[in-house]
This record gives sequence, C-alpha cells and structure tokens, in this order.
Amino acid sequence: PKDGYELWLDYSSIESSSKRAEITSLFSGIYFFGQGPTQQVIQQELRLASQKMMGRDPVFTQERLNQTQLWLGTREELAQVLGLETQMQIRNLGPEGFWRGSIDFQGKTYYAIIGNQPIGVLYGVFDWLKSIQTDTFDPKSEKTDAPKVKLRMLNHWDNLDRTVERGYAGFSIWDWHRLPGFIDPRYIDYARANASLGINAVSLTNVNANAFILTPDFMKKAKVLADLFRPYGIKVFLTARFSAPIEIGGLKTADPLDPEVVAFWKKKTEEMYSFIPDFGGFLVKANSEGQPGPHEYGRNHAEGANMLADVLAPHGGIVIWRAFVYSHEIDEDRHKQANFEFEPLDGKFRDNVIIQVKNGAIDFMPREPFHPLFGAVKNTNLGMEFQITQEYLGQATQLVYLAPMWEEVLRSKTYRPSPTSTVAGIIDGSDSGQKLTLMAGVSNIGTDRNWTGHLFGQANWFAFGRQAWDPNLSSEEIAEEWIKMTFGQNKDILAKTKEIMLESREAAVNYMNPLGLHHIMGRSHHYGPAPWVEGGRADWTSLYYHRADSEGIGFDRTATGSGALNQYAPEIANSWSDPTQIPEKYLLWFHHLPWDFELKSGRSLWEEIGLHYDQGVKTARSMKSEWDSLQGQIDPERFSHVSQLLAVQVQEAEWWRNACLLYFQTFAQRPFPEEIEQPQ
Ligand code: GCU
Repeated sequence: PKDGYELWLDYSSIESSSKRAEITSLFSGIYFFGQGPTQQVIQQELRLASQKMMGRDPVFTQERLNQTQLWLGTREELAQVLGLETQMQIRNLGPEGFWRGSIDFQGKTYYAIIGNQPIGVLYGVFDWLKSIQTDTFDPKSEKTDAPKVKLRMLNHWDNLDRTVERGYAGFSIWDWHRLPGFIDPRYIDYARANASLGINAVSLTNVNANAFILTPDFMKKAKVLADLFRPYGIKVFLTARFSAPIEIGGLKTADPLDPEVVAFWKKKTEEMYSFIPDFGGFLVKANSEGQPGPHEYGRNHAEGANMLADVLAPHGGIVIWRAFVYSHEIDEDRHKQANFEFEPLDGKFRDNVIIQVKNGAIDFMPREPFHPLFGAVKNTNLGMEFQITQEYLGQATQLVYLAPMWEEVLRSKTYRPSPTSTVAGIIDGSDSGQKLTLMAGVSNIGTDRNWTGHLFGQANWFAFGRQAWDPNLSSEEIAEEWIKMTFGQNKDILAKTKEIMLESREAAVNYMNPLGLHHIMGRSHHYGPAPWVEGGRADWTSLYYHRADSEGIGFDRTATGSGALNQYAPEIANSWSDPTQIPEKYLLWFHHLPWDFELKSGRSLWEEIGLHYDQGVKTARSMKSEWDSLQGQIDPERFSHVSQLLAVQVQEAEWWRNACLLYFQTFAQRPFPEEIEQPQ
C-alpha cells in the first residue's frame, strides 16, 4: 500500500516516459571518476532509482570510454582525466554547484553530471532523477545550478525524551535511547530526502534547550548522526542552553564575560569537535519566553553571542542566535521588541554570528507582514526562520501549502538597504552583501509512517528545501514538481491538486485571520479559534491583538498607537499608516478602524470581515470536492487519508468562521451580510 514513506522519492516506473530509451541506456553504463563516501551514496541512490523505475540494476562500469554512457565526477576530474575544460562555467558556483548535459568526446556522445565537489555531483544526480520523475529530462539541453543560500537548514524542536515541541507527526525520529548502538534506517532516508532538496544543515534539538545534549554521552549519539549525514552534505548543529555552565559545568554563573564561563564553553566546544570534526555550531534561544540568556548578567545579545562565536571560530563553527525575543518585563508591543533589542547592536556581532529572524514580528501567523529587522540593520548577518510545522495553520490536520506564504515574504520589498531591496535579497546576500547566509525551517517531521502526519505536510518540507536553495523559485513551480514526484504524471491529478494547494493558504487566512487579524487562536495549544481568550499576561490574550470594541477592531500600530509601523522603511511606514493605502491584507495588523469603515470594495469593514470568513469556508469545501473528484485516480490509501482530513478541515473552517463572527458580532452589533451562510 502507498503509505507515503517514500516521500517524493518513490521513483515510479518510467514505462510511459517519452525518454525511456535514452534513460535506460544511461543507466546501463555509469562511470564514476573518483571514489568516496558521497560517491557511494550516489551509487546507492542510482541503484534504488533504477530498480524502481526500470525494474533492474544499473550497470556501473570501470571502463571509462567504450561501455560508458554517463560520467559522474568533479570538474577537476573531468579536466584532468579527459582534458575537458568545457564545463568551466560552473567554476564560480561554489562547492555545491553542478552542471549536467551532453559531452561529445572522441566521436561519441556521453551524458555527464559534474560538480565542483562530490556534493555538487550528488545534487546534480538528484536533479537529474527529478527531471526523469517529472518527465522533463532532455539529454540535449544543459543545466547549471547552485544554491543561492549557504546554510539551508532544518530546525528540529525535538526534546531528548522524544516529544516534539509543536510537532504533530508523532515523536522525534531521533531515538536517543538506542543511539549510538542502534541505527534506525530512517536516518538514511531522512538524509536522502534532505539532500534531494539541497538541505545541508540540521539542528537536532529544541530551541528550548536541554543542557544534557552537551554532555559526552549525548555527543556520542549526535556523532553517529553526523557521521551518517556527512556523505549527504549535511552538517549537524545543536541548541545550546545558555545556562549550561551552571547546569552541567558546576559553575555558579553563566555570565558570558566570566573567564570560567568562557573556559567552560571553550572546553565544551573542543570536546564537541573531537566527536564531530565538522560540527556546524550552536543555535541559541536566549532571553525569550523564560529561557536563560546574557540579560541575567546585565550583558546584551552581542556579548552573549560573541562569547560563543569566539570559542567556535577556531574550529570553523558558527553561532545562530535567534531574534525571537519577548518578555513580559518589557512593557511594549511585542511587535517592536526584536528591533528594539537588536538594532542598537548592529555591527557588534562577530562575522561567524548570524541572527535568525522569524518571517514576521509576532509568531508564524497565517499571514504576517515581513519582520522589520529585515532592512533595519546593515552590518549584521540575518537569516530567515520559517516554520514548516503548522503550529498556527491547522497543525497536521489541515492541508495548507505554505510556499505561497514564504514566497510572499521573500518577495516583500524592504526598501533598505537600497530602494529595490527585498527580503530574499537580504537573505541570499545579493542586497545585503552578507557572506554568511541562512534559511532555516522548523521541521514538521516525526515518527509517523508518512513523516509529516498530513500527506501534504510533505509538500511543505519539499517547498522549504527548494526555496532555501533558491528563494526566487515560484510556489507554483515547486507545487508542480512535488505533485508529479508524489502522484506521477496524470494531468487531472496535477491540475486539481495544484489548484487545491495554491488556494489553500489564502483559504486558511480567510477562515482564521483575514484582513490582518492575528493571534486569536486557542491559548497555548494554538489550535482552533479563541478570540475571546484572556489569561496570563497582556500579550497572551487574544483581546490584546484584535482589540475589538463597540467602535471597531484592529491593533493600532501607527504613530497614534504602538508606533511599530515606524520600524519599517519610510516608504512603507508612510503609505501603510494610511488605512486607504495599506494593502488590505495587513489592514487590522496596523489599524484600529470603525466597523463601518469603507474598504476598496465599497463595503464596510464589518461586511468584508464576514465575507472573508465565509469565503474561507467556501474554498475549504471546494478543495474537498476537488480532491474527492480524483477518487479512483489516486491509490485508495492516500486518497482516503487526504479526503478524511479535508472533511475535518471543512468542519474546522466552519468552526473558525462561526466562532469568530459570532464573537465579533457581540461588539459590532450588526447583522451579517445577507449573501453569507449565517453563522450559528
Ligand atoms: C512559539 C511556539 C513555542 C516556541 C517559540 C519559539 O511561541 O509556540 O513553542 O518555543 O515559538 O520559536 O521559540
């Protein structure tokens, strides 16, 4: 049965491929220049692909010319052995770049996949296999590619007891208890899946960190994973708990300027590198949501991060320091806090520090304007943190394809450092000039047989990897690739599934948080509507965010309110401070407006809120009926899994609409627009 375990790498039969003859012939004579661990994993992948696509083993030949059809090697190997210098255009593409295409040599045409380094060959091979799976392979055309972002990273929020913070797909795939002795074959499939997308870094542990991961017992376990992942080009990082010197070092302080504390981290780091010589570095959440950090000792984020950066630098390691900071001690709009703490530190962080910023200033909402730190600092490395796991987006119950959301953020214009700058240009260094670049995604992977709980969660893992490789890719082309690799070449499946995926995110925004509403979900579990929720502290209540009253609704972040809008470039701050100019999708994020405020449609705000919620429900229903029309074309297991979950999604969309509209009506005291299904 199709249970989704193979992900997008199920290599279905190529019986119907137009290029079957060429592909079969290439698999019948594969020559490797050079041998090494990465070449070994390439061979394994080719064997698996050949067996599944053609029902037979590939032929690996030792004979470079006569028997060979397909050459695999580095640019240098080809140049040295064959005297070929034709593929020089990849020279400047960095260690991970590749070229694939045909080469005429001594009267014969070969196909070649060439990388600057073996890892580039692996990426080229995956890209070639993808072209076969998507039936786009053309032996006559050449392709050159290289990643635009240096670190393309998954962040697992996995605890040492195997629970996963905000994980909805079972338990952690890291079986700490049975490591280092027992190697779950899943680790290899995990590495293959990531490498097929170009994901080259992984932080294994939760940002709400446990210091025990930094003890030798756990280092030994992490080492096993690092050794397994290395041939796939994947580096291991760990989260560092700032108070580890106290918890596992026997010290009384974790003050980053205390010599004993520095000595602790230096020794820890050396120990780490003795187990994992290419250890990536530390990911740190400090002084946020109660986590320990430098502020306890009167030090700032730069002093904390730089201390770790200095001990990592001799080993080539880096510090990824998160900008998701907020605490109740600072009585400010939470939206402002990261800029408030990090802008004054611009230029003070070491070169091997990168500040990892969530895409928006609040917290992975269904829609957020981009985070104002992007563009606000000029001399600080900034990395992107997206959340693949759908904490606020229906978790693993709902089908919400996230690539359009990420695309929207990446393409946002920041107007800084230059008038044409975008978030993508800051992230990939093209606008910011930064050399250390990073895109991180909070993983949605767990022990569920299909990895992600919802089958379509796989598409989000896939899309994250593709957008990290190239932040300019469109969510539509990524969806097409994933659908073909997951369901095959059927045109009806492609058309309908693509439509479902591309409308799913806007549907979720509409039935959850339209027109800039945010953070009105259930407290702490973050599932389902709760705009009425109060509790704990101001910014843990929904009322804080929607601010509905008898006059109107929305959070005033203009100059008359919290002033957060001023953290953006003047081009944005000026036009968005006018409620008739701001894109309506962000309206209530920045403005508190009367219920009768007239929108572009000529309708009142109250009516538009109703129409948006209702539209969300309608789209959820059409997603379900569209999917159901594919019955018989998709295997029954995957069909039924998605169909059942879509039925739940429709119910939940109705739940959101009804709950929010009925609640807001208690303030608005107006009837619902006639054309919508009346909430009850
Ligand atoms: C969210 C999430 C937490 C997580 C935090 C973070 O607030 O709900 O579980 O720890 O983000 O990103 O650090």
